[in-house]
Amino acid sequence: MKTILITGGTGFIGSHTTVELQKAGYNVVIADNLSNSNENVIDNIEKITNIRPCFIKVDLSKEDECKKVFDKYPNIEGVINFAASKAVGESCEKPIMYYKNNFGIILNVLEQMKQRDIKYFVQSSSCTVYGEPDKLPIKESSPIKEATSPYGHTKQVSEEILKFVTLSSNIKVIALRYFNPIGAHESALIGELPNGVPNNLIPYITQTAIGLRKQLTVFGDDYPTPDGTCIRDYIHVVDLAKAHVVAIDRLINNKNKKSLEFFNIGTGNGFSVLEVIKSFEKTSGVKLNYVIGPRRQGDIIQIYADTSLAEKELGWKAQENLDSMTLSAWKWQLALKK
Ligand code: UD1
Repeated sequence: MKTILITGGTGFIGSHTTVELQKAGYNVVIADNLSNSNENVIDNIEKITNIRPCFIKVDLSKEDECKKVFDKYPNIEGVINFAASKAVGESCEKPIMYYKNNFGIILNVLEQMKQRDIKYFVQSSSCTVYGEPDKLPIKESSPIKEATSPYGHTKQVSEEILKFVTLSSNIKVIALRYFNPIGAHESALIGELPNGVPNNLIPYITQTAIGLRKQLTVFGDDYPTPDGTCIRDYIHVVDLAKAHVVAIDRLINNKNKKSLEFFNIGTGNGFSVLEVIKSFEKTSGVKLNYVIGPRRQGDIIQIYADTSLAEKELGWKAQENLDSMTLSAWKWQLALKK
């Protein structure tokens, strides 16, 4: 049984990926500082899979703490790196914190991997690296535009770091560029748990519907799109989790074609904010209280993925649709209330 270290494994995407890796027969070690998650996620993962992942609470941005993880679990064969600060707005207020944390983590982990000859690394990247696209759907070969936030910049520079690390070591990397991950596990035992007022659309919708927020504001309806609201490629978090299993399998089985590969992980379909609201109202049966407000600064007008490379090379394709995504997010919100 191969052991994979999941940094940030108690978070939204990390927890779902842990479940899918365990189901695929991997042994998982989670390292997380619990800065944006809760330790009871470990119990809930165990409830889903009947396997308790190993867990170590550490701040990976500190060199000695990162080393401790690899000392304690000398059988780690690969790493999936989710651990990072990820709020776009907060990153604009605290850029130094973002650079120290996100680069500290990736550099410390890569250093340990290099010292111990651990070869396989999957990076949590983002469609945010593309900026406002010139052509849609967007391909992996599209140009990387100037970042609009320190958060986005850390994702871009992390990809560059990985480029030079793979050139100078045996480390092989797959960077998955996610579009907009939403939804929750069908068990409603794990899901997205934003701290405080959510920034992202889906948790804002479900919290409004359940009465935690008064009203959703749709940020702008005067964009050059069919209904005037922004368009995104929403992807179910379980589909996304499965893409990580396929990526680590590919590296371990030496199926990768280059030492650094990038893949878009989305559905290939773009949906507007109003379409997402409609889907939510349909699947939940709840009428959503929303108003149209001004545009949000920094929002991209529309972006959705060309996923043909992931389909061809990884044999991976998203299975879920918008309705199943909004329904699972709602079930998770309802379960949180209990
Ligand atoms: C952002 C980040 C992305 C990150 C993702 C998930 C950028 C450009 N994108 O995506 O990298 O992976 O968060 O953390 O930095 N909306 C409303 N009202 C709300 C909230 C959102 O109308 O209260 C709209 C937004 O204007 C947008 C859409 O909903 O059109 C999705 O927004 P959001 O969920 O915040 O994700 P992104 O901004 O696309």
